[in-house]
Parts: sequence; C-alpha cells; structure tokens
Amino acid sequence: MEKINAVITGVGGYVPEYILNNEEISKMVDTNDEWIMTRIGVKERRILNEEGLGTSYMARKAAKQLMQRTGSNPDDIDLVVVATSTPDYNFPSTASILCDKLGLKNAFAFDLQAACSGFLFALETVANFIRSGRYKKIIVVGADKMSSITNYTDRSTCPIFGDGAGAFMVEPTTEDYGVIDSILRTDGKGLPFLHLKAGGSVCPPSYFTVDNHMHSIYQEGRTVFKYAVSNMSDVSAAIAEKNGLNKDNISWVIPHQANMRIIDAVAHRMELPIDKVMVNINKYGNTSAATLPLCIWDFEEKLKKGDNLIFTAFGAGFTWGAVYVKWGYDGKKH
Ligand code: UT7
Repeated sequence: MEKINAVITGVGGYVPEYILNNEEISKMVDTNDEWIMTRIGVKERRILNEEGLGTSYMARKAAKQLMQRTGSNPDDIDLVVVATSTPDYNFPSTASILCDKLGLKNAFAFDLQAACSGFLFALETVANFIRSGRYKKIIVVGADKMSSITNYTDRSTCPIFGDGAGAFMVEPTTEDYGVIDSILRTDGKGLPFLHLKAGGSVCPPSYFTVDNHMHSIYQEGRTVFKYAVSNMSDVSAAIAEKNGLNKDNISWVIPHQANMRIIDAVAHRMELPIDKVMVNINKYGNTSAATLPLCIWDFEEKLKKGDNLIFTAFGAGFTWGAVYVKWGYDGKKH
C-alpha cells in the first residue's frame, strides 16, 4: 500500500476588529510603549469585546473562511479538532459548537488542551488520523480569547496577550508533502510557573477566587522565558538535524509568538536571518493556540509548493515541540 501523507490544503483566520494598542494599555497599568516593544515586541493586539461572544465565534469565522477557500462541502468534513485554553464552556467542547455553527453532519469533534503548544499537538494528532487512511478531510483550529483570562491590572501579563483564531484543512496525499515529522514533549513540572489558579476542579470558583484575580493567567515570566528559549531552540535544531535540514534548505521557521526576544533566540540558534522567520507578534500579541495558523494566514502568499517549514511552540505544562511540514501549494488561496 502506498504511504499516506497528511497535507495542509488551505488556511483560514480571524482576528477581532477592536485594536488595543500600547497607548491604551499604558492608561490601564504602569507601563509604556518603549518597555513593551523592547521587552516583548507587541505594538497592538486584537480584542473580542462584544458581550456574549467567545472562542467559538472566532473559530467559526476562521473555519468558514477555510471552507470557502478550499471549496469544501460541509458534508465531507470527517473531524474537527479545536486547540484552545479558553473554551466557550468547560463542557461541551468548543469543537462541538463549531460543528453546529458550520452545519457539519458527518463529523466528530473534540477540543485539545496543550496551552500555547495546542495547535502543534493538534496538527500532529490530525495528521495521524489522516495517515490511518480512515479520514479524508479534517479541520484543525487554534483559537483563544486570551482577554477572557487576562488581568488588566497586572502589568507583567496584560501587554502580552490578544485574541484570534486560525485553521488548517488537512487531507491525504500519496505525494511527498505535508506533515513529515514531529518532536513533541511535555514536562508537568512546569505547573507552578504558568497556570490559572482557580475555576478547575482543584479550586472551584468562589467570591474569594474572583476577588483575588485567580481566574486570570499567573506567570513567572523569567522562568518561563528561560525554558521557552532553550526548549524551542533545542527542539527546532533537533528536528532540523533529524531531517537533513539546515539554514540553506529551511524556507521558513514559524515560532509561537510569545516574545520577540524568544523568536530572535530561536532564529539565532537556527542560524537563520529574521526574514526567514514568520513574525506577527507586533500586530496580534500572544494569541496562544492561534499564533501558528495566524502566521501562515498572514504569510500564505509568500509560500511555495515544496517549501520546508519548521513550526515550533512552547507553553504551559510545560509543553513544547517542533513539527516539520513540506508545504503543499503555491501562493494564496482566495
Ligand atoms: O506563551 C506561553 C509562554 N510564555 C512565554 O513564553 C513568556 C515568557 N516570558 C516573557 O516573555 C517575559 O519574561 C515577560 C515579557 C513576561 C517579562 O519580561 P522580563 O524581561 O522577563 O521582565 P521581568 O519579569 O524580569 O521584569 C523586569 C522588570 C521588573 O522590575 P524590577 O523588579 O526589575 O524593578 C518588573 O516589575 O520590569 C518590570 N515590568 C514592567 N515594567 C514596565 C514588568 N512588566 C512591566 C511592564 N512595564 N509592562
């Protein structure tokens, strides 16, 4: 039997209209544009500020654009996986809401939680469903409404995050394109450094948890920074070496957009000029599971069939990894 590869056949994306810039953030907390630009690299971020709209709204917009761009019939979708840390509800899954909103009749759907590495883990997961030969058309989404878990009185976290969603269509091919290899890792010892303190089964919501901002991101930035730099750099170098890739034949590195200094460190380790690294942190900030597909959404027109791409991410858990993709089509699909 011929080997089945899982190829990405299209991309869709969505960011909310409202722009929260550094000037406005500087009115909320004691900070300024210069500090945010030099220490993080975010100029502005998008915020979904209409009441009653959650992550599934952005995921739906991204997936609708994806279906239109790939000319997909809703009846042909087999599976939807949504990577998110900010689901609409604890249950049911955001993916199940998406199925309804997209009118999918023949699909099953579930959410995947791996924080900022969620899209990376989801991409390898859906690639394996395709490789099994049983599934033909899968939508994989990375979507997060980080503003819903951000404390806008905490200057050490609120400038970082933004809201957005991105989606890929993944399909089978017998050609040598698609998700070629991956190295994914988790180390649960990262828990103390990056988490949401309340709202889960260990610490259910109470007046105390609300009064003490325990439903917002808690991060020990310096520690997370250190692990993010070393793990993303090491894993990107490892997947490159394993697949005979180097600075001359890597077309693009797509790093999680958490901090421009982390992105620079990864580029340095890979010996790549920054113009071979996808960067849009300045526009959207850290949209968690959405950063990787939103990079492809922004840079799609520059991509060519056969391009060697390395996706890499790091997030809470800790979770991290790298995925090697051989891109499957030229330019932008409309
Ligand atoms: O996506 C999931 C993974 N997450 C990450 O990868 C994030 C990793 N961490 C980071 O990106 C950085 O650690 C941060 C951006 C969160 C913080 O940058 P930093 O350079 O590590 O700053 P710091 O926490 O060491 O703080 C340095 C100083 C402190 O002042 P003192 O104690 O030196 O007087 C902070 O109080 O900067 C101060 N500071 C600020 N000053 C102005 C912290 N936040 C701000 C701010 N504006 N917004």
